[in-house]
Amino acid sequence: MHVFTTAAALRAHAETQRRAGRRLGLVPTMGALHAGHLALVQRAAADNDEVIATVFVNPTQFNNPDDLRHYPRQPEADAALLAPAGCTALFLPTVEEIYPQPAALRFDFGPLERVMEGAHRPGHFNGVATVVSKLFHLARPHRAYFGQKDAQQVAVVRQLITDLSFDIELVACPTLREADGLAMSSRNARLSPEARAAAPLLHQVLQAAAAQVRQGVVPAQVQAAALAALAANAAFTPEYFEVADGQTLQPLVGYAAGRPVLLCVAAWLGGVRLIDNVVA
Ligand code: PAF
Repeated sequence: MHVFTTAAALRAHAETQRRAGRRLGLVPTMGALHAGHLALVQRAAADNDEVIATVFVNPTQFNNPDDLRHYPRQPEADAALLAPAGCTALFLPTVEEIYPQPAALRFDFGPLERVMEGAHRPGHFNGVATVVSKLFHLARPHRAYFGQKDAQQVAVVRQLITDLSFDIELVACPTLREADGLAMSSRNARLSPEARAAAPLLHQVLQAAAAQVRQGVVPAQVQAAALAALAANAAFTPEYFEVADGQTLQPLVGYAAGRPVLLCVAAWLGGVRLIDNVVA
């Protein structure tokens, strides 16, 4: 596995691979890799000749300095996991390499980012779109792999690809879960044993809500029941629970036949912010 730390080296590698007619898959990550990330790498390896993984904790997508400071960083351990999963090149840049100067360009995805993560983390999707655009330009992939756990990120990157005419296929991969239902996340490593024991409630609440949606319970009632179930456990501070249209991500007041319903939750648990979602 090649390891590149400069943008120029990654660009040259991608160029060489492309000229050789090889298909490139890109797996952008912020590191602290878990089985969910490795599943993206494995899928990329099955679909492409070359898999470029990036490990970069992107400061511009954090609106909370504490969150950025505490984000787990373990580049050596990440590198050791990537090659066996099928990664052929790892890009491990510094902040200065990605942002030699602060980006002046600002992304605005309209209604798509006025809800959920975008509403609660101002500037988050501007930071995501900035770094993902840079990685797309440097790695020149044919396909890019993202986890469905960040459903709104998937929708934003899809919009980015369309709006900026990137010739890239976005592959959204299912959320991997622990045996008790907790969605795999780099942030789980920061949960205390007590918080970790409480954490599966997030998925249980989503599943209960999905059952209500299938029974036709109106969105406002589904949302209220989910928030009440989370608030009943003192360990949780819910941030939002949304019953949203699966494509536009806008909150629903009723259901339309044949349209997917996306249930999304964000909550704080022992100082760690967790998100999860299911399609009902
Ligand atoms: O999902 C993530 O880990 C990040 O948002 C991404 C896509 C790597 C951009 O920094």
